[in-house]
Amino acid sequence: MKQEIEKLKQEFKSELATASETAAVEAVRVKYLGRKAAVNGLFMRMAGLPHEEKAACGRALNQLKQFFAGEIEAKTQAFCGGEEKIDLTFPGELAPGGSRHVLSAVIEAVCDIFEKIGFTVAWGDEVEDEWHNFAALNFPVDHPSRDDFDTFYLDLPPASKRSGKYLLRCHTSPSQPRIMKEHKPPLAVISPGRVYRPDQVDATHSFMFSQIEGFAVARDIDFAHLKGTLLHFARSFFSPDVKMRLRPHFFPFTEPSAEADISCFMCKGKKQADENPRSPGGGVKTPRGKCSVCKDKGWIEVLGCGMIHPNVLEACGIDSKEYQGFAFGMGVERIAMLKYGVNDIRLFYENDKRFLEQF
Ligand code: DAH
Repeated sequence: MKQEIEKLKQEFKSELATASETAAVEAVRVKYLGRKAAVNGLFMRMAGLPHEEKAACGRALNQLKQFFAGEIEAKTQAFCGGEEKIDLTFPGELAPGGSRHVLSAVIEAVCDIFEKIGFTVAWGDEVEDEWHNFAALNFPVDHPSRDDFDTFYLDLPPASKRSGKYLLRCHTSPSQPRIMKEHKPPLAVISPGRVYRPDQVDATHSFMFSQIEGFAVARDIDFAHLKGTLLHFARSFFSPDVKMRLRPHFFPFTEPSAEADISCFMCKGKKQADENPRSPGGGVKTPRGKCSVCKDKGWIEVLGCGMIHPNVLEACGIDSKEYQGFAFGMGVERIAMLKYGVNDIRLFYENDKRFLEQF
């Protein structure tokens, strides 16, 4: 038995000596200390030994096991102290993180600007009905945008005769009647969200895009409040020195209506100043090359706006003799394209990381 113990010890030593990685040491441990280890067989055979030898043999076998365990532990430690040691000061590998989508960031930035001056954010529903999307907003029944050709109608039974067909809203303006019906003035609301139109997709059009609607209703609101609010927005969002001009326009739900242009924040309208002294550049000499943002027009169209039509207020149960309101609506992709110089709307939806990571 003594010789066998010695033999096992030698075998163990030479095997452990050749183990050059933790996995090999583990294999040695399993072989010499595991359930099927040879030393366990020797313990079994102890039973057949004469009584006097039993105690000495048991001690020797226990010592052998302790020897195995000690050697294995020492070798494992040696590995940890050597090449396999974990260096806690070593810089970790950064897991690739996502980033906020630029359209979400723009919506958040715009809402932030308006919230700071007292507006409340309200997201509307993308599925609307004809009443909120058109009728309450003073669209005549024969308005062309009500055609199948210009609106996605849903194949659902109407909620009521008055509500008309269900559809995917084609603008965020239905937020106006939605909120005006439920809440009493004074109101100041900013309402972002997705809208849908059956448009052919190209560099500037998509069948789905985002808008931000804003409106305020109170006593004695006038056009100056509208212009002041929009100028504050344009200066906060684009650049503190932009100028704004309002051009007469038509929308069924506002009267009077206007389109708002801002002076080009890129070239400051300098090129135009040569030909037109009333341009925002105001007489500064021409730089070379076309401006990438305004194409040398000096002005950039950014949104539609106006005073809420009395018919809209009345449709929502608000007395138009007592209350007035202003409203405006802008395209999120459009202002994002202008601000960041993006030249194709499709880039916003393709989820190409190389594009998204830039913002
Ligand atoms: N709903 C209009 C559109 O989709 C945008 C708009 C224009 C909204 C004027 C308004 C507004 O609230 O006053 O083209």
